[in-house]
Amino acid sequence: MDRKLLRLVFLLMILFVKKFILMPIPQETTQPEEAELVDETTKKPDSRPVKYYKYNYNDSSPDGPKSWPGMCTTGVKQSPISITPGQYLRKTSNPTINITFDSANFKNPKTVKVINNGHGATYTFIYDDNSTVPKISGGILGKEVYEFASFHMHWPCEHSFILTDSCALEVHLVHFNSKYKTLDEAKGKPDGLAVIALLYVSTYTSELTTLPYIPMIKNIIEPNTEYDEIDPLKIFNYHDVIHLKVAPRIVSYKGSLTTPGCSETVSWLIFVTPHLVLESDMRQLKELKDPYNNKVLRNNRPVQPLNGRSVYLYVPYN
Ligand SMILES: *[C@@H]1O[C@H](CO)[C@@H](O)[C@H](O)[C@H]1NC(C)=O
Ligand SMILES: *[C@@H]1O[C@H](CO)[C@@H](O)[C@H](O)[C@H]1NC(C)=O
Ligand SMILES: *[C@@H]1O[C@H](CO)[C@@H](O)[C@H](O)[C@H]1NC(C)=O
Repeated sequence: MDRKLLRLVFLLMILFVKKFILMPIPQETTQPEEAELVDETTKKPDSRPVKYYKYNYNDSSPDGPKSWPGMCTTGVKQSPISITPGQYLRKTSNPTINITFDSANFKNPKTVKVINNGHGATYTFIYDDNSTVPKISGGILGKEVYEFASFHMHWPCEHSFILTDSCALEVHLVHFNSKYKTLDEAKGKPDGLAVIALLYVSTYTSELTTLPYIPMIKNIIEPNTEYDEIDPLKIFNYHDVIHLKVAPRIVSYKGSLTTPGCSETVSWLIFVTPHLVLESDMRQLKELKDPYNNKVLRNNRPVQPLNGRSVYLYVPYN
């Protein structure tokens, strides 16, 4: 072969490699997990991974809470709300909320997955046997049984309850009505979801230990990353997470999800006695990054109008 031809062949090979082998594979435009909650008009940002929603918590941004789509704007039973003593109707007697487990069967999950969805961290659980999943009923839920599905966090708190300024962290444990097959199916139903909200005031005290699920955060700093913990026993026990050692005082009302599409399918159970979280845990959470490479410094929706809804206080019966 003459030199010229050889060079041509070589050049073509390089072009081929560049075009078909080194070329980046187009990002699969996977559907967001909660796609059905997002108004169809919500634009996905260009040239970014799409597995998150284009909304933020900046009041002056076009994607800020005032401009969230669909029910977020048109709804009349939105969350969070501001809870003031004297506003609620006191329920002193049974039925008080019963957090029921079959304690003989109750087991910790086999795997805990944590995902940075661009707005914070969501923890989901895989159980060996689904009959051992924690369940709740009673109180505002009546006889309906709700299964535990996942939890996530907002900072600072979303619901405001006296300690507005000092409430650093609100943990939401999402449960779905077990008459529906999955969380996704339940999300669209008026009686679909029950969310337990736990409130935390931050402290520097050295006597407190880190919340067990916080150390996982360092593995998911970048948006769209996921980390599995296969020794969940050491990080997650439902009883411990909801601090069941103390019988909870619970404020309940009917409201919505606090993220787009804000569907009005949530029975809220707010455990109003605050717990403590280490300031260093809060710093760790604020290391999480959004898709624009900014730290998620806050992700709390502003309070929404009550619009005449009833708010109930359930106190322990014994
Ligand atoms: C909030 O949005 C406005 C308008 O887009 C922008 O100028 C400002 O920098 C944003 N603030 C933060 C903290 O991102
Ligand atoms: C447990 O429930 C989950 C979520 O509904 C489901 O994906 C999984 O297959 C179930 N596992 C078993 C062992 O039934
Ligand atoms: C809650 O549990 C108590 C004590 O076991 C029981 O008496 C009561 O009927 C239960 N309430 C509901 C709503 O299940």
